[in-house]
Amino acid sequence: MAQKDDDILNKFMDKPSEEKDVAAGRRLKVGIIGTGWIAGAHIRSYMNMPDVDIVAGADLIPGKADAFFAEHGLTGVRTYRSHAELLEAENDLDAVSVCTYNAAHAECTIAALDRGVNVLLEKPMCVTLDEAVAICRAEKRSGKVLSIGFQPRFDENMRMIKKIVESGTLGKVYYIQTGGGRRRGIPTPYGTSFIAKETGGIGALGDIGCYSLDMVLNAVGYPRPLTVTGYKSAFFGTRPDYYPTHPEYAKAFGVDDFAAGFVRLEGDIILDFRISWAMNMDTPGDTILLGTKAGLRIPSTGCWNGTVGGPMKIYHEVAGEQVETVIPVIESKGPGLFDRKIRTFLDAIKTGGAAPVPASQILYNQAILDGIARSADLGREITVDIPEI
Ligand SMILES: NC(=O)c1ccc[n+]([C@@H]2O[C@H](COP(=O)([O-])OP(=O)(O)OC[C@H]3O[C@@H](n4cnc5c(N)ncnc54)[C@H](O)[C@@H]3O)[C@@H](O)[C@H]2O)c1
Repeated sequence: MAQKDDDILNKFMDKPSEEKDVAAGRRLKVGIIGTGWIAGAHIRSYMNMPDVDIVAGADLIPGKADAFFAEHGLTGVRTYRSHAELLEAENDLDAVSVCTYNAAHAECTIAALDRGVNVLLEKPMCVTLDEAVAICRAEKRSGKVLSIGFQPRFDENMRMIKKIVESGTLGKVYYIQTGGGRRRGIPTPYGTSFIAKETGGIGALGDIGCYSLDMVLNAVGYPRPLTVTGYKSAFFGTRPDYYPTHPEYAKAFGVDDFAAGFVRLEGDIILDFRISWAMNMDTPGDTILLGTKAGLRIPSTGCWNGTVGGPMKIYHEVAGEQVETVIPVIESKGPGLFDRKIRTFLDAIKTGGAAPVPASQILYNQAILDGIARSADLGREITVDIPEI
């Protein structure tokens, strides 16, 4: 993969955080399930927390968990060959981070919740709506905290989008266009776990599509999806010449590298969505929210690392004139987004508070991803049916 794409894919990583004066008190015992790429960001943030002991970790690949903890300078961490072994052996864990590839999210999360362990689950929540429902039911019967790993939620610019909508500045929002993505940026830095069906489960649709959906759905209060017309394709990932150094990846590619959807949401809102890991275009467009009083444009980003692609703009009327107001990009101060995602999760455990990114919201995000995939497979519009949790 070209250097430029590596840069884009790694932009979610935090700059080192100087702020460590977070609430101390009770210490929490934490385990990490899946010690691959993103587990590195989790462990670095846990190590920034003064009230966390990292006590256990698991990975299916022999020796990988041991090497991971050694690389981070941690000794005495108990390691296991699967999430099941870890959960069976560890009796007083407070929390686990589930950092496995997407297809193992549901199994690991449900097993941990059923053992009474709080879970920070990486995004996307899982692969299918059925899995998401099973996860939410496990959360309910456990009474534990389950938070989904959408760190962009903690970015000031993302919060600003929600504040603008909630302030009423836009009036009633009736149409949303969102998505984005890359001209070339299929993530294969550590092999095929994102692109093989049995591990990734879904491609660009889930990997970065879930972020762009969360950005707008969170802003408008997570309305329930009603119907979906979906499309997905895989014209780039299946080309051996896409991977000059690993042409064999083309055979492993079993997911989508582009997806689009037209979604009817409760409250008379239309959502027009497109997302790309690879396409013959620079961007499929900015995110726009059209409201009865004003419209908001959010410049597209290739990464979904929690920042917006440039200053946002509000299009409105003043004294009968059509004017635009520029919202400057807010530079983040204080802890990085990953530290905030970990800290808010730990604080919810300590205070008995609500999950910072609730599964009950992300259930609707997953229902849209699932609806797009199912509609694309069936070749027609589908009705979204979300059972009671
Ligand atoms: N929040 C972010 O910014 C961000 C960024 C990158 C990836 N992610 C997400 O993180 C997840 C992992 O991505 P990655 O790039 O680290 O993948 P990876 O393939 O590098 O690592 C996943 C690891 O999980 C292990 N694993 C799978 N099933 C397991 C099980 N049952 N028990 C123990 N270990 C198991 C695998 O052996 C592998 O080592 C994905 O869901 C991805 O979408 C999030």
